[in-house]
Amino acid sequence: MTAAGDLPIGVFDSGVGGLTVLRELRRQLPGESTIYLGDEARMPYGPRPADEVVAFTREALRWFGTHDCKLIVLACNTATAVALEVVREESRVPIIGVVRPGAAAAISASARRSIGVLATTGTVRSGAYARALRDLDPLADVIQQACPALVAIVEEGRSATPEAEAAVRGYVQPLLTEGGVVSPVVDTLLLGCTHYPLLREVIERVAGPGVRVVDSAATTALAVREVLQSHRLLRGGGAVTHRVFATGPIERFREVARTIFGEDLPAVEQATLG
Ligand code: DGL
Repeated sequence: MTAAGDLPIGVFDSGVGGLTVLRELRRQLPGESTIYLGDEARMPYGPRPADEVVAFTREALRWFGTHDCKLIVLACNTATAVALEVVREESRVPIIGVVRPGAAAAISASARRSIGVLATTGTVRSGAYARALRDLDPLADVIQQACPALVAIVEEGRSATPEAEAAVRGYVQPLLTEGGVVSPVVDTLLLGCTHYPLLREVIERVAGPGVRVVDSAATTALAVREVLQSHRLLRGGGAVTHRVFATGPIERFREVARTIFGEDLPAVEQATLG
């Protein structure tokens, strides 16, 4: 029988974007095996109603139930924001989401605790980031901004275009405008969506040097490491394996991954949810 610590870490995202989190996990925990599942066939989750996101996340966790993981990371911000509280109660495998670690990253980066959250419509609607930030600092000024155009811009390889810059400007500029209570001038922008780190350069340029731009990938990996360490669940050594599964056409998943990350994924395996 496989020792609990030798089981892989599961990583779930609505599509390819969560590979940003996987990459950081593999960097911080090179001795761990991973299984990534991207529900590319039903991407995007961001605009979907909450009950649908909960249902899809449940299906993903059921799928992981047949792949024996020691811990599952919900790399998708929308799934974390909307479904984590519900599915955590139902899962026998521990789950870590990206919202709390993202909030922690923003709080430690922000000198004035004036934080702008860029996220999908579903994540903003859930208010999960605002809650997590205020759990850590009840006096924090939080302003959320839904950025519905950005996921498609990244997926279609348009991140370095004037169109991307214009869209980012439209979303970010209002958070930088002097305006007191309604529009605080943020000193930190939290990238609350898997795809936005891929627009980091543009976002930093638009935000200017006085604003720090943070995401949840590094702090999520750190949280995973801490949990595994505390519960003596780190892997004991030996060869690691990394498997990537996707719903929908495999070639499309590989193509989007190539467009976004500029690298070829090894074999992508077919998964079916539902
Ligand atoms: N993975 C989603 C998130 O982080 C972005 C893509 C989508 O809308 O499904 O919120």
